[in-house]
This record gives sequence, structure tokens and C-alpha cells, in this order.
Amino acid sequence: MKTTSALYVHIPFCDSICSYCDFCKVFYNEKMVDDYLTALEKEAQTLQGTMTTIYIGGGTPSSLSLAQLARLMHILAPFCDAHTLEYTMEANPESVTLEKLQLLAHYGVNRLSLGVQSFQPHLIKAIERHHHQQMVIDVLKMAQDYIPSLSIDMMYGLPGQTLADLKKDLAVIDTLPITHLSYYDLILEAGTKLSHTSYQGIDEDLDDAMETQIHHHLELLGYHQYEVSNYALGNHESMHNKVYWHYDNYYGIGAGASSKIDDCMIDHSRALLKYLRGEDITHVTKLSKEDTMFNHLMMSLRLVEGLDLTEFTRRYGKRVQEVYQEPLKKHLSLGNLVIDDNHLKTTPKSLRYLNSILIDFLD
Ligand SMILES: C[S@@+](CC[C@H](N)C(=O)[O-])C[C@H]1O[C@@H](n2cnc3c(N)ncnc32)[C@H](O)[C@@H]1O
Ligand code: SF4
Repeated sequence: MKTTSALYVHIPFCDSICSYCDFCKVFYNEKMVDDYLTALEKEAQTLQGTMTTIYIGGGTPSSLSLAQLARLMHILAPFCDAHTLEYTMEANPESVTLEKLQLLAHYGVNRLSLGVQSFQPHLIKAIERHHHQQMVIDVLKMAQDYIPSLSIDMMYGLPGQTLADLKKDLAVIDTLPITHLSYYDLILEAGTKLSHTSYQGIDEDLDDAMETQIHHHLELLGYHQYEVSNYALGNHESMHNKVYWHYDNYYGIGAGASSKIDDCMIDHSRALLKYLRGEDITHVTKLSKEDTMFNHLMMSLRLVEGLDLTEFTRRYGKRVQEVYQEPLKKHLSLGNLVIDDNHLKTTPKSLRYLNSILIDFLD
């Protein structure tokens, strides 16, 4: 259908494990990382061409040693040239150094996404992370000289977090040299350390109050919300993540990563040891046209800009109004969805309960 020019690379190693995290990751181990890079290099050789966007995520890519990071950059260099518009790496404050930033910049990385979650010591402790406020400020100041686009990940709904804690976090954000931030509502994932405690998550009213506070505060600072959990200054929206939300094609390499090529999902299992042995751990699912259309709708409605109706018709040969006649009629008349500028979109209010709207489109 479309050419594929977005590449996700998964690095499943972390220096420590956060109590809420269900991503594909293990503790950093030097030998294991070396072997992983060997397997990744082999997999990367199956891909061709340069990419418009590259995203190295994890896990914690910055946990790699300088030499390992240099090897990773070398493996990915064939996919990056002057046409690569966005090249992101995720990092944690504790493992960012000047030398690593210089290396990343040398290889064309132009965006750093730093995991923060909170600046409040008691909350950082509660989720078993290990940075402190000044460390984040120092890392961002240092990164500013090398990487033009800086983003941070924040979370709300953390155990013990009050509205006053959230306001303190937002006040720190005022002072940071960032151009983008993701603000995630904590998901209590089964099997995580946090899910085995008595913590049940915050109540709906507090959750709502926190989301409202975040939204208002960030808009006052000049950030615009462009997706459920994402805010940007000016044109600093994440190009790579928008590939997912536009349901365009992407490659994903490494344990736990997924590719989407037209109507096929190619999922790597999380079986790290098998990946290290070079075994094929991918599973291909060919999606039905109905599932492909629903996924496209579901992903695009997460964006404030909504679903491009012309693009939908071009891809599937049917108008969205034909495919989803009944649910569309219902939610347009309730005012949960609107058609504007040839896009089907939520309103600022209904974006918050998108999942309950989408249920009606599933039948
Ligand atoms: C998987 S981490 C990878 C990058 C890096 N290791 C870090 O900690 O930021 C990416 C982001 O996912 C978000 N995240 C992870 N687990 C989450 C959960 N259970 N609920 C909500 N957000 C979560 C956090 O904001 C985190 O920064
Ligand atoms: S949130 Fe990031 S640092 Fe924490 S365990 Fe998950 S991937 Fe690792």
C-alpha cells in the first residue's frame, strides 16, 4: 500500500526496574547487550533504504555503555541520511553523559525523550526510580547543546500523588528547555510489582482533576495537545509516533518490537534468549479488512486532528460513513464526534472517554 519509512528499534535493558513497568526489559548485563547488538545487526541487515523517522526505545537505550551505543549507532547508520527528518532515542537521566550526547548528535539523533515521571522525591521513590530534580535539569541543559528537540515523559495517578504534587511537577516543567512532553495516566499493569501492592489507582474525580490541571497548565505555557497523552510546542509533534496514529507502515526490530506492513502485523515475542540465539521469534498476523479499518479509526481518533476521511476512502475504497453508519450517526448526534475540515474527530471533552465511544464501532 504505502512505502515503509519509519523504523522502531527496541533496546530491552534497564539499570533498574520501575514498579509499574510492563514493557519488554531486563536488567542491564554487559555480555547480554553485546550479544543483543549482534542479533540486532543481523536483523537490521534484512531491511533496506533510509528512513524518514527512526525511534530507539526501550527499555533504556541510554543504559548501554558508550562503546555499545557507538556500535548501535553504527548498525543503524545505513538507515539515516539527509532524508531522515526525526531520529529519537529514549533515555533515563541517570545514564546520560556528555560523551553519549556527542555521539548521538554525531550520528544524526535530533530528538531525546527523557523518562522523568515526577520530580517529587517521595513519588520517585514509590515507583522505584532513581533520579532527582536537579539531575533532570542538568541533563536537559547539557543535551540542549547537542540535540535540538527535547521531550520528557511524565506520569500522573502515581501512588500517593496529590493534586498539590502534580502542581509542583508542573511548576518545574515551566523552567525546562523542552519542546515536547508526554503525560501518561498510570496504567496498573498485571504482573508488575505495583500491581502486587494494595494500590488500586486514584479515584475517577482526582484523575479527572489531574488531567484538567495538566491540560490547562500546559496550554498556558504554550504547549498544544495533539494526542491523548502528548503535548508539543509549535511543530515539535513527534513525527515517528504520528506514523502509528496515522496507521501508516513501520518496521520494528528487536525483542518485543512490532512492524506493521499494510494489513500485516509482525510481532516479535519477548523471548530474549531466543532472540540472542538468532531464532526467528516473529509472529505474522494478517488482519481482516474490518480489523484494519477499525485499528486505523481507533489510532487516528487519539489525535486531536482526528481521522483523515479522504485517506480512509483511498485506503479501503469505502467512506467511513458507509462502514460505520449506525455508531457514527449516534456519536455525531450526541456531539461526541464531529466532522470538520474533512476529518472525523473527537471534541476536547470526548477525547477523555474515547474508549467508551470506540466500543460502539467494534461490532
Ligand atoms: C517504557 S519507558 C521507556 C523509556 C525509559 N526507560 C523511561 O523510563 O522513560 C517509556 C515511558 O512509558 C511510560 N510508561 C511505562 N509504563 C507505564 C504504565 N504502566 N502506565 C503509564 N505509562 C507508562 C513512562 O512514562 C515511560 O517514561
Ligand atoms: S519505565 Fe523505563 S526504566 Fe523503568 S523499567 Fe520501564 S523501561 Fe525500564
